[in-house]
Amino acid sequence: RVAGPCVLVLFGVTGDLSRKKLLPAIYDLANRGLLPPGFSLVGFARRDWENEDFRQIAYESVKAHARTPFREDVWTHLSEGMHFVPGEFSDPGAFDALSMAVKELDESRGTGGNYAFYLSIPPKFFPQVVEQLQRSGLADRKEGAWRRVVIEKPFGRDLKTALELNDTVHRVFPEESIFRIDHYLGKETVQNILALRFANSMFEPIWNRSYVDHVQITMAEDIGIGGRAGYYDGIGAARDVIQNHLLQLLALTAMEEPTSFSAEAVRAEKAKVLSSVRVPGDLTISTARGQYAAGWQGGVSVKGYLEEDGIPADSRTETYAAVKLDIDNRRWAGVPFYLRTGKRLSRRVTEVAMVFQQAPHLPFSHTDTEELGQNALVMRVQPDEGITVRFGSKVPGTSMEIRDVNMDFAYGESFTEASPEAYERLLLDVLIGDPPLFPRQEEVELSWRILDPIEEYWASRGGLDQYPSGGYGPDSADELMARDGRSWRRL
Ligand code: BG6
Repeated sequence: RVAGPCVLVLFGVTGDLSRKKLLPAIYDLANRGLLPPGFSLVGFARRDWENEDFRQIAYESVKAHARTPFREDVWTHLSEGMHFVPGEFSDPGAFDALSMAVKELDESRGTGGNYAFYLSIPPKFFPQVVEQLQRSGLADRKEGAWRRVVIEKPFGRDLKTALELNDTVHRVFPEESIFRIDHYLGKETVQNILALRFANSMFEPIWNRSYVDHVQITMAEDIGIGGRAGYYDGIGAARDVIQNHLLQLLALTAMEEPTSFSAEAVRAEKAKVLSSVRVPGDLTISTARGQYAAGWQGGVSVKGYLEEDGIPADSRTETYAAVKLDIDNRRWAGVPFYLRTGKRLSRRVTEVAMVFQQAPHLPFSHTDTEELGQNALVMRVQPDEGITVRFGSKVPGTSMEIRDVNMDFAYGESFTEASPEAYERLLLDVLIGDPPLFPRQEEVELSWRILDPIEEYWASRGGLDQYPSGGYGPDSADELMARDGRSWRRL
């Protein structure tokens, strides 16, 4: 899979995402020989830069964050195709200059009028940039060439704004040209959920309400919000992560087998299961949220959310959210899916845990099975990528004592190839025009439909507990589980 000749225009090239993820991913693609020779990258931002300044910044990000080794020849070749256009998103003149720049690249580097526009910018600018692309003619497709637009999350801040944004983008680009990024879908371990389920025969028979007691989907982070106050405050953990990453994990875990791995078939199954998700009626007992307070992390004292730069002292934005969801279909009726995410927790871990019912009968003495928990199959998304099966085993000795043990599959032990960074995979898919790993509009809307009532409830009367940094989240999240006679897996 090698991309054809094209220009990638990166809006927001000075931002964190570009520097840490996108520019290094482009270099890694070049290093693996996956970009065509004439590939050109145009950076657009509000900086008074020349091409050389842009190349220097890109060089530094590649040196700091690329996954593959640095090779001078690859870099030289790539940087020759790098150009910078300065400008404001509101300035039509800047977009005319951009249009001229990409047309010149078509002539000089043979990119054939194929353009991908990557909007790595604050969401409030999405409509403006899309309209400018239309006005300047950049979005007009030439015969035999393609135009694609890549939109970073969050796609809207609720269902209403997501629909509005969708209308704006659709006025300019057809659905097949729109690539909505959810970078979790670019992760190997996330794609492996479907391989585990549908390439094997031993898991699917027990993947249902007859055997599964409940499912826990966790995305815990040890970091705080860093320098992202402007983006994060007012958005919060649920919109930042549950609406997209965690509901996509839920969809992949709970969906039916697609008829094929075509984009249409996979997205249709995800949409079907998302439309069966029900938010339990009483949100007081099925949701919890919190905000990190000061604390200790890895032996270092860290600030609370309200003390972070740029956060209003009375902010009610949550940095931790937990929700219980039901799925109303034959496979999952009565099996709760518990989702939780939070910043400044004790450690970074993302996983999907299928927790199985207790054996219907234990022919052992009560004292021998005191240490026996529920069987679990844990898909470890990161950082320790792999799968763990947890089950009871006899403790060596003269009694029949039974205790939980783990059987592990670790990527690092089974595969010599390192996993590509999620953005590398997704960028390549955009350039090739391969959409299965990008959520379509219907999934985005269904996810907002799930989240909107929860957000409304929180805005009107939901509590907001403080939790110490470096801990396990707010007590209310533990209480949510305890009410159901369950507990979260240890972080
Ligand atoms: C982003 C969120 O989508 O995902 C961030 O906006 C979060 O708040 C990040 O930190 C986590 O990504 P990853 O790949 O490190 O799990």
